[in-house]
Amino acid sequence: MMMMDLLNSLLNWVAPPASLVMLACSWPALCFITTCEWLYKSFYSENMEDKVVIITGASSGIGEQIAYEYAKRGANLVLIARRENRLRGIAEKSRHMGAKHVMIMAADVVKEDECKRFVNETVNFFGRVDHLVNTATLGHTFYLEEVVDTSVFPHLLDINFWGNVYPTFVALPFLHQTNGRVIINAAVESWLPLPRMSLYAAAKAALVNFYETLRFELNDEVGITIATHGWIGSEMSRGKFKVEEGAEMQWIEEREVQATGGPVEEYAKLIVAGACRGDQYVKFPSWYDVFLLYRVFAPSVLNWTFRMLLATHTGRRTSLVGTGRSMLEGSPPRKLLTGSNSLSQTSSLQMQKLE
Ligand SMILES: NC(=O)c1ccc[n+]([C@@H]2O[C@H](COP(=O)([O-])OP(=O)(O)OC[C@H]3O[C@@H](n4cnc5c(N)ncnc54)[C@H](OP(=O)(O)O)[C@@H]3O)[C@@H](O)[C@H]2O)c1
Repeated sequence: MMMMDLLNSLLNWVAPPASLVMLACSWPALCFITTCEWLYKSFYSENMEDKVVIITGASSGIGEQIAYEYAKRGANLVLIARRENRLRGIAEKSRHMGAKHVMIMAADVVKEDECKRFVNETVNFFGRVDHLVNTATLGHTFYLEEVVDTSVFPHLLDINFWGNVYPTFVALPFLHQTNGRVIINAAVESWLPLPRMSLYAAAKAALVNFYETLRFELNDEVGITIATHGWIGSEMSRGKFKVEEGAEMQWIEEREVQATGGPVEEYAKLIVAGACRGDQYVKFPSWYDVFLLYRVFAPSVLNWTFRMLLATHTGRRTSLVGTGRSMLEGSPPRKLLTGSNSLSQTSSLQMQKLE
């Protein structure tokens, strides 16, 4: 025991600087190998023509743009979200952009039965599944202590974690048959602590760990691409979320805010190219990785930086979800709107084939 303690104390001092030196020395060679691998895989990138791609969360933002990218590559698409009316237009546009066949299905990815249904319907119709792209999400921006309504907590974890696991679980037997691929949209928050996003970040961290473990279990028979990205302009970053069937939660003030961040189209291109190349990770922007170094080797520097950056933000903006109030003076209370595009009539899955 004593010996073990001594060894650990010694390694605590020696291992970090030794690893840094080793990394620095091997960095050029590693970069060379990675570049060669990247060039080879780019040349032999997967041809998606006639392949079958299921995209969850395809009714807006990144999911929608990913659908267009696969469409340009001539794939067959199965678009999943709860707002079927949104999917219709996206399916039509995808078809014009080159998709062979497009199916749309209104489904809730948090419900395992609905996931089984859309995966089975896909296999019944197309006979295969090649890529499963998980983009369904629900975000938030609140300090935990501001929460007065905890009913949104399970929703956040359900959609951001189980909403990825269920579709993956039911699609895996079919992905095995095609040596297919699962694509996951995590976020930089999965390892970079950003205030006001605690539950979202926790779900994304769980997601990354789940898929890293699954990658080993699957032994490369089914590929896994994990995308971690920063702030992208989309409905999520504009604060519009649909919490449950027929109810649309709008954070009115945030929707008025001009969303900043990289263009969704650019990111969708990167993720589809990365998936077809067989990349394990897609990062946008990739320089955020340096924060990981600070987190491991100098966590206090990261802490100070965040504190300094936050101190310069005098006005704290908070989403209304869970807090029941707005941080902006005189703004209206949280609204749960019954969406004009309520899906009450589509609670049972509906499927359409557009040719
Ligand atoms: N935007 C960013 O800045 C950013 C940054 C980092 C990571 N990400 C990640 O990127 C992915 C896509 O984000 P986004 O910005 O494109 O979000 P978005 O525009 O808000 O899209 C979310 C999608 O998820 C669907 N969805 C939500 N709950 C669902 C459920 N229970 N069942 C089925 N579909 C559901 C929504 O459609 P319905 O409402 O019609 O169901 C919508 O199509 C997410 O995983 C997100 O965490 C985004």
